[in-house]
Amino acid sequence: MKIQENFSLRPYNSFGIDARARYFASFQSVDQLESLQWEMQHHALKDQQYMVLGGGSNILLTGDFNGWVFRNEIEGIEELHEDAEYVYVKAGAGVNWHAFVQYCISKNWGGLENLSLIPGNVGASPMQNIGAYGVELDDVFWDLEAYHWQDKKVHTFTRQDCEFGYRESVFKKRFKGQFVILNVTFQLRKHPVFHTSYGAIQQELEKLGVKELSIQAISQAVINIRSSKLPDPKKIGNAGSFFKNPTIPVEKYHELKELFPEIVGYHLPGDEVKLAAGWLIEQCGWKGYRKGDAGCHSQQALVLVNHGNATGKEILDLSQEIVESVEFKFGVELEKEVNII
Ligand code: EPU
Repeated sequence: MKIQENFSLRPYNSFGIDARARYFASFQSVDQLESLQWEMQHHALKDQQYMVLGGGSNILLTGDFNGWVFRNEIEGIEELHEDAEYVYVKAGAGVNWHAFVQYCISKNWGGLENLSLIPGNVGASPMQNIGAYGVELDDVFWDLEAYHWQDKKVHTFTRQDCEFGYRESVFKKRFKGQFVILNVTFQLRKHPVFHTSYGAIQQELEKLGVKELSIQAISQAVINIRSSKLPDPKKIGNAGSFFKNPTIPVEKYHELKELFPEIVGYHLPGDEVKLAAGWLIEQCGWKGYRKGDAGCHSQQALVLVNHGNATGKEILDLSQEIVESVEFKFGVELEKEVNII
């Protein structure tokens, strides 16, 4: 548990932003986390801010962090128990998400296959209720343990406690900054139920010539789709979707549909429509745009990218221009999905 000073966070954020932390340390257990907290609180400069970093795949660092950055590296995958239908599997918050998905697929445990290749670590998955291709974390989540920064105790959160929504949980709202997720337990299926309603999955399965569905085949289809559309953060810095898909009332959708017949929207229960933000951004002419090293991805306009040496501020400024142009053209406000730090 070495505490390092003036530490570059570039390898630890998928945008590849070269921002520095005044102090940086990793922890592999809750005891180590508590020791680091003690160090921080007994340090001469004790009033400094702190941040807990997971895989760093959903943050934009807009400057140096004048405080303490603690990186969650709690490892371990454990099969807790099983019943006739399910197996309950606990994974440390620091386990790489896709490695965990692959491990479960190799064991023939179903539920995570549609969530293949999402960057980041297990600990961040409930934080923003990750989702892709018709499945959300919410569907496979059982419970989690989290350390409370003030009372210094470990609390258990059930699914209800997490208050999951679209890219939302209690940890982004009411309890923001209060808990450190230590591990997550998943309820996975021994007899998988396949989710292939997302159009792109069906097309890809056909392309692959899959005759008999399996979690392996779905995972491969998702991997192929993601690889073709989304930039690999190892090659081009990014944090996946930068914005959420906005929800608007159905009346507003009909008005927009009159003006823009091609608009992409999905009806939700309760007279609301979710719009494809990628489409709105593309229509404003941003897709493939580049200013310096900050840009909008050429295959998926919802993803902002760092072509090399962009600063977080440059990416944030670009995001602001995008928000303004979408608001101007469509009267729709885009909300950021990425955490700005
Ligand atoms: N579209 C465009 N232009 C674009 C991008 C998209 O017209 O540049 C249109 C597509 O043609 C399609 C629709 O928008 O009709 C939806 O596109 P896509 O299937 O790529 O999904 P998305 O709604 O843009 C969401 C998630 C992704 C997730 C995919 C697949 C959000 C904010 N994003 O994107 O999640 O992989 O669905 O389920 O909900 C992430 O959160 O980081 C992420 C990548």
